[in-house]
Amino acid sequence: MTRINTPFNAKTTAAEILIGVDLTGRRIIVTGGASGIGLETVRALRGAGAEVTVATRNPTGDQRALDLSDLGSVRAFVAGWTGPVHAIVANAGIMALPTRQVAANGWELQLATNFLGHFALITGLRENLRQAGDARVVMVSSGAQLRAPFDFDDPHFEHRPYDPWAAYAQSKTADVLLAVGLARHWAADGVTANAFEPGYIHTNLQRHLDDATMRAVGAMDEEGNLVTPDYYKTPEQGAATSVLLAASPLLDGVTGRFFSDNQEAEVVRGGPDVPAGVAAWSVDPAAADRLWDYALTATADH
Ligand SMILES: NC(=O)c1ccc[n+]([C@@H]2O[C@H](COP(=O)([O-])OP(=O)(O)OC[C@H]3O[C@@H](n4cnc5c(N)ncnc54)[C@H](OP(=O)(O)O)[C@@H]3O)[C@@H](O)[C@H]2O)c1
Repeated sequence: MTRINTPFNAKTTAAEILIGVDLTGRRIIVTGGASGIGLETVRALRGAGAEVTVATRNPTGDQRALDLSDLGSVRAFVAGWTGPVHAIVANAGIMALPTRQVAANGWELQLATNFLGHFALITGLRENLRQAGDARVVMVSSGAQLRAPFDFDDPHFEHRPYDPWAAYAQSKTADVLLAVGLARHWAADGVTANAFEPGYIHTNLQRHLDDATMRAVGAMDEEGNLVTPDYYKTPEQGAATSVLLAASPLLDGVTGRFFSDNQEAEVVRGGPDVPAGVAAWSVDPAAADRLWDYALTATADH
């Protein structure tokens, strides 16, 4: 399968992706759209004329309430939605919680927020996506998907020792597998789904990292000042691939793929030292189907 290339690069901004694109009449939901990459995604989509709903835990103005770690909140959001949805950008996320935290229903909180809540939201809005005729789902994943496959035996760290990065990594692998699953299961509804990693961007996401970890990843100097290495992106650049996948005509009909720096990524072996690409375990169709079944059962039971 030929990899998709676009004229854009790592430093392209979200607004630049949409130059000349008219999104008037397109209704788009962005989870976590009140901060960081999500906020810039919202700005760019609105700038091109889309009707964007910001779904956030603490809504103000015309934002809508959504707590992804609470299926009651997800169901209330779904119940309150009428009419078509042209795109869902599954952007909200939390990273590397230092200790194992669980949602009210007992789910490990990163898996609950980053994956299972989004699964419930997207499947809850299936009919609304179908109504759009050509809806898109964008899963905001991470380079962390290279670090761990989905652990079907113990997704909630009930039997293995909790590890902040393993928990984040598996949730981000699950996000990619969901895009693959949607591509496999909902093509007849006209729905396409793709995933991407935004790169490194200073946002609130890093709030759970201690100074030693920030230094280890090159994001802080010895005096405790934030450092911005050359390979870091601004939030406007970090949002570019989100907008590309949600709304660019260049992606019409493209589905089940993973992008990085606005290009389709190479499928690679995952592991601790692999620098780039998408892990084979993140795009494995058998794992996508197994995860689909797991998530359907899990979200139906709670
Ligand atoms: N920044 C990076 O370098 C980087 C790298 C790779 C991947 N990513 C991914 O990019 C996405 C956006 O992150 P960001 O960097 O922009 O960080 P951010 O500014 O912290 O944004 C994350 C958003 O998720 C929302 N959120 C958290 N828990 C939620 C919940 N239970 N229900 C609903 N919303 C919830 C947050 O809302 P609140 O304001 O309520 O907390 C926040 O708006 C994430 O999925 C992240 O994993 C980021």
